[in-house]
Amino acid sequence: MPAFPRFREQWVRPALFFGNNFISLIGGAITSASAFVLIGFWLVDAFGHGGSRNPYIGILLDFLLPGLFLFGLALIPVGMLLRRAQLRRADKIPAAFPRIDFNDPVFRHGVDIVLVATFINFVILGTATYRGVAYMDTVSFCGQTCHVMAPEGTAYPVSTHSGVACVECHIGSGVAGYLHAKVNGTKQLIEVLRNHYPAPIMPNDMLPPASQTCLHCHRADTWIGDKILLQTTFGDDEENTPSRSLILLPVGGRALNGKLSGIHGAHLGHIEYISTDSTHQTIHYVAKTEPNGTVTEFMDTDRRTAMKGIRRTMDCTDCHNRVAHSFDTPTHAVDTSMLADAISPKLPYIHQQSVALLRATYTSPAQARTRIVDALDHYYQTRYPQVWQSNQPQIAQAAARLVAIWSQNVFPFLRVTWGTHPDNIGHDDYPGCTRCHDGSHNTASGKSIPSDCSTCHNVLSIDDTNRKQLADLGLQ
Ligand code: HEC
Ligand code: HEC
Ligand code: HEC
Ligand code: HEC
Ligand code: HEC
Repeated sequence: MPAFPRFREQWVRPALFFGNNFISLIGGAITSASAFVLIGFWLVDAFGHGGSRNPYIGILLDFLLPGLFLFGLALIPVGMLLRRAQLRRADKIPAAFPRIDFNDPVFRHGVDIVLVATFINFVILGTATYRGVAYMDTVSFCGQTCHVMAPEGTAYPVSTHSGVACVECHIGSGVAGYLHAKVNGTKQLIEVLRNHYPAPIMPNDMLPPASQTCLHCHRADTWIGDKILLQTTFGDDEENTPSRSLILLPVGGRALNGKLSGIHGAHLGHIEYISTDSTHQTIHYVAKTEPNGTVTEFMDTDRRTAMKGIRRTMDCTDCHNRVAHSFDTPTHAVDTSMLADAISPKLPYIHQQSVALLRATYTSPAQARTRIVDALDHYYQTRYPQVWQSNQPQIAQAAARLVAIWSQNVFPFLRVTWGTHPDNIGHDDYPGCTRCHDGSHNTASGKSIPSDCSTCHNVLSIDDTNRKQLADLGLQ
């Protein structure tokens, strides 16, 4: 017998004969439906529009759907083997297998079942996958579903970028960014499932450059000009004496005459640096490349030490690193709450007590709540019984505010605490600008990155308790 007819006699006909059973037919339908869905999503992905950039979609498209495909495929021989065993027991295996004949109602019936079941499976799977993909792009998936994202998920809704999806800043554009994120996302998901993830989770160098994220919405050289910053702090004395600092920041940008100036203008050229930690707090080497190609290198140590670490090109996120999820400091959080009267400045020593209570160590939010509430109440009851008598609501409100501040900034289970995620704008609470502008990053010839106060701003008043100047400006 020639090869093809023999193949048909010995394989195709028995396969169709045994395959005509419920399990195999359903298996065939699952396989074909998942194949259609997969191909559909691959096409959407390849031709761009509507393709999601979320890394976890990889789990759906690369694991779950192919898994279902294989499962359906495996059901086919299982069903066939079961049917053969059943027929063999009943001694009903025919000597010659029936021909493939579309007029044969039994055969036609099998084909009908597969077609109908494929269609139903396709609709179910397609809808489920589409909804899964859409869901994974939401902020709630990134920031809330995954408990290890709790710090960022908590800080994000109150940030200026709460309308910007996590994926906009965390996933670079193009196929490379997508693949990169997919590999990373899968790795992280496995870490979380194994309950074996880094704590705290620090920014790694996986963040795409600003050109692929921030600059989709912002223009790097927009003229911003001068900004006035007024900062109020309260003292640790009994009266919580307020003091104010007022500075004028020339943020600059590209002016109408085409010239770059100010803080933005100064860094729009090409500046590279080498840091020794993931948050880039320790910088030993900075290099500025002029438009004509000359490179000026600034170092704060000998060359060998300076060249060790992570090399980066400076961009927006080197100063604005906490625009979407910023963590506060105890002092600043208490100051802003007191300014808004959420913590009453009328309570004696409230600034000092609040900061101390926030800085204490608590193992859980529940413990923080009871300890803070009790401690503040106890303080006024024993030290200022009169104040305690007449200011119950204010004391309770202050305690509640402190508990809220603590819960938004400290996450013991992830070892995230005050200062874990430094903010690089300014220099008050963290090194910030002074990571480079500290007077000790020098060129070989001794020129340093400028560091005197007037390099970056006009200090109009500093920790001023005399309100006259501010009153003159109408800022009381
Ligand atoms: C506007 C841009 C932007 C958005 C939107 C954004 N992030 Fe970030 N994210 C950043 C930047 C910039 C860093 C690096 C921070 C640094 O270097 O200190 C970062 C760092 C992180 C880190 C590392 C740990 C840390 O806090 O530094 C995590 C985790 C993270 N983001 C999660 C999220 C989640 C979850 C969302 C959505 C709820 C989100 N991000 C939205 C810009 C963004
Ligand atoms: C999807 C668009 C979008 C992306 C992406 C985006 N921003 Fe913004 N950003 C905005 C909008 C809109 C505002 C104004 C928000 C407001 O005033 O409430 C803003 C405001 C800001 C501000 C001023 C307010 C503040 O928080 O200080 C800074 C700084 C800023 N963005 C930096 C960045 C940086 C850095 C990145 C990249 C890590 C980035 N943005 C990514 C849309 C975006
Ligand atoms: C060298 C540090 C530095 C770099 C780099 C930098 N900025 Fe800024 N930017 C500042 C400072 C300082 C301010 C003013 C202080 C503030 O807003 O807290 C500011 C202010 C802003 C504002 C707020 C303007 C307003 O009206 O409130 C926006 C928006 C902004 N920057 C966007 C960007 C973008 C986009 C990039 C990247 C192209 C960038 N910045 C790079 C330091 C920097
Ligand atoms: C990674 C290092 C680095 C960081 C961080 C940094 N700068 Fe700079 N900055 C430089 C370098 C390098 C120059 C160019 C110095 C030169 O040309 O001599 C510069 C120049 C400037 C200038 C222009 C000075 C002049 O007189 O020409 C200003 C203003 C400035 N920076 C402000 C800031 C502010 C504000 C911050 C923080 C928000 C900051 N820088 C953070 C590296 C840095
Ligand atoms: C390399 C730039 C740079 C240098 C040098 C610098 N500052 Fe600042 N400073 C800033 C920036 C940027 C801010 C704004 C921070 C913000 O937006 O919250 C700031 C904020 C301040 C504030 C406002 C309140 C606060 O504490 O945040 C005071 C006061 C101040 N600086 C004083 C000084 C004094 C005094 C010096 C000199 C010893 C100095 N600065 C040197 C960049 C600089």
